[in-house]
Amino acid sequence: MSGNKVQKGAIGKNPEAHKWRAATQAVRGGTNRSGFGETSEALFLTAGYVYESAEEAEARFAGTREGFVYSRFANPTVTMFEERMALLEGADAAKATATGMAAVTAALLCQLAAGDHIIASRAMFGSCRYIVDTLLPRFGVDFTYVDGCDIPQWKAAVRGNTTVFFLETPSNPTLDIIDLKAVADIAHEAGARLVVDNVFASPVLQKPMTFGADIVVYSATKHIDGQGRCMGGAIVSDAGFIEDHASNFLRQTGPALSPFNAWIMLKGLETMDLRVRQMSRNAAEIADFLADHPKLSKVFYPGRTDHPQHELAKAQMEMGGNIVTIDVIGGKDKAFRCLNGLSIIDISNNLGDTKSLITHPTTTTHQRLSEDERLDLGVTPGMLRLSVGLEDVQDLREDLSRALDLA
Ligand SMILES: Cc1ncc(COP(=O)(O)O)c(C=O)c1O
Repeated sequence: MSGNKVQKGAIGKNPEAHKWRAATQAVRGGTNRSGFGETSEALFLTAGYVYESAEEAEARFAGTREGFVYSRFANPTVTMFEERMALLEGADAAKATATGMAAVTAALLCQLAAGDHIIASRAMFGSCRYIVDTLLPRFGVDFTYVDGCDIPQWKAAVRGNTTVFFLETPSNPTLDIIDLKAVADIAHEAGARLVVDNVFASPVLQKPMTFGADIVVYSATKHIDGQGRCMGGAIVSDAGFIEDHASNFLRQTGPALSPFNAWIMLKGLETMDLRVRQMSRNAAEIADFLADHPKLSKVFYPGRTDHPQHELAKAQMEMGGNIVTIDVIGGKDKAFRCLNGLSIIDISNNLGDTKSLITHPTTTTHQRLSEDERLDLGVTPGMLRLSVGLEDVQDLREDLSRALDLA
C-alpha cells in the first residue's frame, strides 16, 4: 500500500477496480488486506509507525522508500477510504479530512493566495459562506457572489485574477440546481478551477467531475456515514491537484481524519448506494404527497416536474435526492407547531441519515444571516428542510399529516 504519495492510475489495490461499477467499488474499492487475510477492512488505530533501521526511517522520510511515517500524513485505514472515494468519483485521488468543513477550507486555502479572486454561488451552506466572505478576505482573497443559476452572472464576474469558482448543487435549503457543465466551461475559459460541494446529491446521484468540475468536496458526515455516527470529509480531484496542493497543505496543517472514523466511513460506503436510492424513492413519494397540501405554500423537490430546473436536475442527477423542502403557510409560528407535532421525524440539523430529520433553516442553519440575506436566498420564515430517511414511507406520511394538521 502506498504511503502519502499518490500515483496516477494507482488507485485501489485491485488493478481492475477502476473498471468496476459504482456499487462494486463502494463495497470493495481500496481494500488492502493485511497478512491475516481479514474479510472486513482492518482498523489501524495507530498514530505512528516503526522502522527496521535508522536507514529505513531516513528513506521513508525522504520518500525514496514507500511506507507510512505518521498518521497525520497517512494511515492504512484512512488510505483505504481515500482510494474508495476516488474510485467512486472516477478521480485519480482523494484526501480525507476530519470534517466536511475541513475539506472545504483546505480545498480552497491550499490553492488560493493573496491577490486572487474567487466567484461563488451565494446559495450555500452557512459555514461555506463564512469561508468565502469573511475568512478569505482577511488573507487578501477577494470574492464575488453570484446567483449560481444565472449563468451569465458567472461570466460577468470573471476578473484577471479569478482562480477559483465554488458552488453547491442542489443548494441548501432551496434545492436550486446549477448547470455544472456551463459553469465549468466558464471557469476553464478563465483559467480557473471549479470546486463543487456535492454533499446534497452524494456520490451516488451526481458525479460533478463528469461535467467538468476539477475538485469535489464532501461532508462524509452526511450520506457517506449515513447513520449519524461520525464526522468526516473528503477532497477528490486529479493526482496533480492532490499532490501539488492538497496533500502538503493537509500534512502541514493537520485536519486528519481519525482512522476509527475512516473505518466507519468505509462501512458506510458499503451500503450507501442502497440507502441513498431508497431514501430518494421515499423522498419522491413524500414530495408528491405534500405537493397539494393545503397547509403548504410550496414544496421544493428537484425530482418533481414543477421544480423550475427539473430538466437540468434530470440531466445531472440520477434521482431527485433525499431532501424535500417545504414552506408552511403562516410563517415561523406555524412551522414550529408542525415541528413540535412530529413524533417520528426528529428535529435535527443533520441530513443524509437513515433517520428522517427536519430543521427550520431560519432559526438554525441560516440563523446568522440577516433577514434580507435570507430572503435574498429564498429562505422564508415558514421554510422547513426535511431529510428523508429509511423508515416506512407510510409512517412518515402519517407523521407529517398529523403535524401539519396542528399547524
Ligand atoms: C452542503 C454542506 N457542505 C458542507 C458541510 C460541512 O460538513 P461538516 O458538518 O461535516 O463539517 C455541510 C454540513 O452540514 C453541508 O450541508
